[in-house]
Amino acid sequence: MSFRIQPQPPARPNRCQLFGPGSRPAIFEKMAGSAADVINLDLEDSVAPDDKAEARKNIVQAIGDVDWGTKTLSVRINGLDSPYWYRDVVDLLEQGSERLDQIMIPKVGNAGDIYSVDALVSSIEAAMGRTKPISFEVIIESAAGIAHVEEIAAASPRLQAMSLGAADFAASMGMQTTGIGGTQENYYMAHEGAKYWSDPWHWAQAAIVAACRTHGVLPVDGPFGDFSDDEGFRAQARRSATLGMVGKWAIHPKQVALSNEVFTPSEEAVTEAREILAAMEKAKAEGAGATVYKGRLVDIASIKQAEVIVSQAELIAG
Ligand code: COA
Ligand code: MG
Repeated sequence: MSFRIQPQPPARPNRCQLFGPGSRPAIFEKMAGSAADVINLDLEDSVAPDDKAEARKNIVQAIGDVDWGTKTLSVRINGLDSPYWYRDVVDLLEQGSERLDQIMIPKVGNAGDIYSVDALVSSIEAAMGRTKPISFEVIIESAAGIAHVEEIAAASPRLQAMSLGAADFAASMGMQTTGIGGTQENYYMAHEGAKYWSDPWHWAQAAIVAACRTHGVLPVDGPFGDFSDDEGFRAQARRSATLGMVGKWAIHPKQVALSNEVFTPSEEAVTEAREILAAMEKAKAEGAGATVYKGRLVDIASIKQAEVIVSQAELIAG
């Protein structure tokens, strides 16, 4: 391994990020009362252009007025290609209370995008005497974003999380689908008359996980549009969790429980991980670096794998 130790990502649960349009303040209290670890109030694509100013006001007020408990509170600003984003940042930081934890920057294409927002945020924080630094999260949802994913992950110490935004990503890549994540009918292998569906999001997710893990950022799976399809959501979320992602978005409240279920390590998995750690302790005491657990090899790498599961479970348990 490189002599540089892989940095730890922020130690906070991020199993589910629940989204809601800033133009729909009637649902803010319901969002706050949900079981989501992260709340994303939206100023971007779920808010119509004519409603942007009103949505900003709603959010600025709700940051201070609603009891968000211990949740991470994040606001998705508009993209840097829009005429709205600077006003989003200015109003949130000049008028919003210090309860705001995070700003989500959509459609990032390179490290310079984050640098630009960082410069504006840093200046306003200093001018306003804000004591709690705002953190960032970004969405990879364009060809440029995935091409520059590593420099983006390294762009700012403020950066805590990075999500894959399947819909805009698909559009930017020219993918022939209108689905938001999940299985795509035409993405399959054929063998002896049978079809075997494959996962067109896999490579982008893996690239995001690698960039995030290199730079101590939380990798997150984005939206799953068909909120009537629980089985499809679970399958997508389980693949993401297997690849190393820590959570997924919910674009409807019914997806929160599904996401929490998948991204909370199961009791069986935690028990097995603890047993592997115990088996390796015993092996170590006997001077061995490898041993057998349930008929399979475990060695020093298994300790690190088991620790991923145990530490995730401990983090969630608080
Ligand atoms: N957060 C919390 N509560 C929500 C909610 C949300 N995002 N969306 C809906 N609810 C509430 C409704 O108010 C309703 O509450 P009630 O039972 O007290 O009346 C309940 O959940 C059921 O809502 P439902 O009628 O099934 O949905 P809807 O038609 O009102 O809204 C959406 C559906 C998809 C338009 C809405 O969930 C939404 O706007 N989601 C977020 C979209 C978004 O932010 N996109 C950007 C990221 S991709
Ligand atoms: Mg998008």
